[in-house]
Amino acid sequence: MKRLIVTIVAALVALTSFSRDLDVKRLAGDICHVRISADNDSKYLLLPIEESAKEAEVEVIVNNNRVRTLWIRLALSHIDYYAPFALDEFQGEEVLLQMHVPSVPITLSNRGWVGSDLCVNNLRLSDKLDFSSETSERPEYHHTPEYGWMNDPNGMFYKDGEWHLYYQWGPYGLVWNNMTWGHSVSKDLIHWEHRQPAIQADALGAVFSGSCVVDHKNACGFGKDAVIAMYTMDGAVQSQNIAYSTDGGNTFTKYACNPVLVADIPDFRDPNVFWNEETGKWNLILACGQQMRFYSSADMKEWKEESKFGKLYGAHGGVWECPDIFPLPTPDGKSEKWVLLCNINPGGPMGGSATQYFIGDFDGHMFTLDDPDRYTGGKALWMDYGKDHYATVSFYDAPDNRRTVIAWMSNWEYADKVPAIDYRSSNSIARDLFLYEGGQGELYLGSRPAKEYDNAGLDKKFTVKGSTVWTLSNNEKEKVVITYDQKNMKLSVDRTESGMVNFKHTFPAVTIAPVHKKLTSLRIFVDSNSVEVFGNDGEVVLTNIIFPSAPLTTIKANQNEKK
Ligand code: FRU
Repeated sequence: MKRLIVTIVAALVALTSFSRDLDVKRLAGDICHVRISADNDSKYLLLPIEESAKEAEVEVIVNNNRVRTLWIRLALSHIDYYAPFALDEFQGEEVLLQMHVPSVPITLSNRGWVGSDLCVNNLRLSDKLDFSSETSERPEYHHTPEYGWMNDPNGMFYKDGEWHLYYQWGPYGLVWNNMTWGHSVSKDLIHWEHRQPAIQADALGAVFSGSCVVDHKNACGFGKDAVIAMYTMDGAVQSQNIAYSTDGGNTFTKYACNPVLVADIPDFRDPNVFWNEETGKWNLILACGQQMRFYSSADMKEWKEESKFGKLYGAHGGVWECPDIFPLPTPDGKSEKWVLLCNINPGGPMGGSATQYFIGDFDGHMFTLDDPDRYTGGKALWMDYGKDHYATVSFYDAPDNRRTVIAWMSNWEYADKVPAIDYRSSNSIARDLFLYEGGQGELYLGSRPAKEYDNAGLDKKFTVKGSTVWTLSNNEKEKVVITYDQKNMKLSVDRTESGMVNFKHTFPAVTIAPVHKKLTSLRIFVDSNSVEVFGNDGEVVLTNIIFPSAPLTTIKANQNEKK
């Protein structure tokens, strides 16, 4: 590991050089001024990072205005890697970074603290990012950020043949912080192109999760078909804000009279908005502590609280986050039921983060459960029984009335500990949702691989005729074992010997899903860092990440029809 880090450092340093465009001045104590001239045309300032260092305050000052404050683990005693601070946003402007560089105590006679030289002396301008030190292949068809930390998918929508995926992005290192909305776009849900970050943090705080709508009727006055994002600003309090885009979601202008909703409790976030054709209004579902709140609005600026949901129902082992709500056709295709997605952390069935769901009706004002007994006394329905399926939300306006979702493939139990170089974490494949009936005619939510993957040759398909064990392996004796136990109606995924597992004790797990209808088929998607298993094309799903030293390319099925 150490050798690798040194290689990365060397490679990055080789790509860079000191330049007249960079002026670094030590002021008193731990304050350092880093000035990048308006003439600079380098793309990045590379910041030396030590992952276990304390976060240092870095103020970004442009034209004498503080545009945002960042918290960065600037190196104190050694450099783990360099994090790029992108400069293209400030082209033609002088940028001043006022840094509180990490401090070391100095001798008694000096009486005090002084900023470390290591960080100050190793700041560099660069035009290129060098990913050559990555030890394993990037996932072939899973979305990853170009670099830095990623969590929740945000504001996804489909427009003009393109799937837009924004995501919680922390560009300055491999651990959570300084959240902005990164942006990627795909035409096929397989290949993703990275675009400029869409909504940047500002002097009032960081940009947390949220959603996007396409305003077909120009109800909000930002223009017909404007893309409008609603997101949480995490500053002095958590508040809901809007921003609009008239170029199809590439650049956003923040609404001048933000915020549009302010918090009355500490956890107040992750707005999910949709147009309700029946009431002719926008509806909003918002996670508030361990409940959801519903609101309505004609213009997304003035919101009326309609109702609350959830106090007595479902799992409450953690905070409720990242909600979504939408109608889906019933299995007979004759009517619709509303499904409410509620991501919860911790408190998931396999420990840590997970997505629970509720089935009922929504009339623009209130959500009413179909069968409240299914959710009382701590009972809950879960979308996915793997350990790495969180912050699941759907694309707005997906084509052909599909309800297509993506989940973040990680778990807050260990998200900042998983092996990573350059970037940390990936998103699940997209899934199309549907309702199906279990053995007693009760409804469940299923999630089948999006139809874009049907003929892409990415998965292995199996017909299932009874209890079966599938072993995915490589030449390094690393493996993932999938077991269908028909007698006990369980499908499980064992990753305890899947490669690197010891970075956190909760990682080497066997995840187990209940099976509501006998399995007749199984699809397995294996990419370099994940195994996604779909029984009966999405009736039962397990999503788990893995860190093998070589891809698990061999799959053997061992069917035992007697069981
Ligand atoms: C969920 C979450 C959200 C929040 C975001 C911050 O993973 O905690 O509730 O908006 O992450 O990055």
